[in-house]
Amino acid sequence: MPGRAPRGAPYPVGAISSRWYIFEDAMSAELPMSDQPPRVNVATRVAYGVTQLPRVAWYVGHSLLVRQLSNQARRREGSGRSPARASGPVPDRRRLYADMAALLRRDLANVEAGIYPLPADHDGSLARLIERSRLFFEDLPEIHRRREAGMHQEVWTEDTRNKRPRYYLQNFHFQSGGWLTDDSAKRYDTQVEVLFNGTANAIRRQALPPLQEKFLGRDQRRLRLLDVGCGTGRFIDFVKQAWPRLPCLGIDLSEAYVAEARRHLKRWCWLNLLVANGEAIPVPDQSQDAVTSTFLFHELPPIVRRKMFGEFARVLKPGGRHVIVDSPLNGVEPDYDGMLELFPQNYHEPYYASYLGEDFGTIANERGLTHIRDDNAFVGKVMVFDKSE
Ligand SMILES: C[S@@+](CC[C@H](N)C(=O)[O-])C[C@H]1O[C@@H](n2cnc3c(N)ncnc32)[C@H](O)[C@@H]1O
Repeated sequence: MPGRAPRGAPYPVGAISSRWYIFEDAMSAELPMSDQPPRVNVATRVAYGVTQLPRVAWYVGHSLLVRQLSNQARRREGSGRSPARASGPVPDRRRLYADMAALLRRDLANVEAGIYPLPADHDGSLARLIERSRLFFEDLPEIHRRREAGMHQEVWTEDTRNKRPRYYLQNFHFQSGGWLTDDSAKRYDTQVEVLFNGTANAIRRQALPPLQEKFLGRDQRRLRLLDVGCGTGRFIDFVKQAWPRLPCLGIDLSEAYVAEARRHLKRWCWLNLLVANGEAIPVPDQSQDAVTSTFLFHELPPIVRRKMFGEFARVLKPGGRHVIVDSPLNGVEPDYDGMLELFPQNYHEPYYASYLGEDFGTIANERGLTHIRDDNAFVGKVMVFDKSE
């Protein structure tokens, strides 16, 4: 059952929402997945542009300002740290913008193909956006201080050390609070969108087409999806926009992030969110039709990646699908190789270098999953794996 405590978990596990059980009563009527032909019209394109372009402009603006502030701080204070260096090529702004445009065109094409509806990013009101932006800028001096001093262990304390795995207790991205505080959970989405120039959600949505391939023509209420490392719930939001009655379970090791996900996803039912470890997933064997993870694997040590793949293979039903969205790997898009080198130097990403060289096909194969394909999505990569029937 989803509510079973994870084996040997030393941390509290969130209560099972009663909503989790509602779908069990609603299984009688068939509800096929939509296979209607797409409706292409100008209104869709205009609506897409009107929602996505200002959003991209907002975060590109943040990104340019951050760069300026960071350069100013370095000039003002000097820096003992040698600047980050890359041996490979780094794409210039023009190339980045061209690739962002290609991603957005693909996102729109997916909408026009009927794979998912016109996306709602649910960023909240302008007041909320400004408040999130304020929180983001407020943390920049602290991030700068940690980066310059090479400090990233502030969240490993007497209080936390026995409650979470050691690898987890770090200030990833040099951010205040690591994964552990409410403020970190409130800042996270702005940080990610600034890093990706407002395309993080569009990248996450590229996991939906491989899911649709598996779900098409099936009763969504009879399927099960598990999102591991669900963070603040942004990916689950898009899953629910595409399949509102698909029962979803999101798990994450952070109480603060799960609380933020509950707030963000409160419009949906057929949904449960738990504080739990992806290394010991609290669901039975062969219970899930799909397991997803977005921007999780580059944050994990190699041994944990393998353990999680073992868990995914265990919980997937025969014929089930696993979709990863994460950073590209080395050599996939050579023009970006230098940028992939710079990223872990500028943000605290202790496992990123090992991620870049990881052979996910072999990891999957050794655990009974088959690597089906990879798709590139700007600074994201979608990896698709199936469990045999
Ligand atoms: C970079 S964030 C990605 C969050 C989200 N999936 C997204 O698309 O933004 C990584 C998340 O993985 C969670 N995490 C890290 N290790 C985990 C583990 N062993 N089990 C469950 N969640 C974990 C962190 O708490 C954090 O919320």
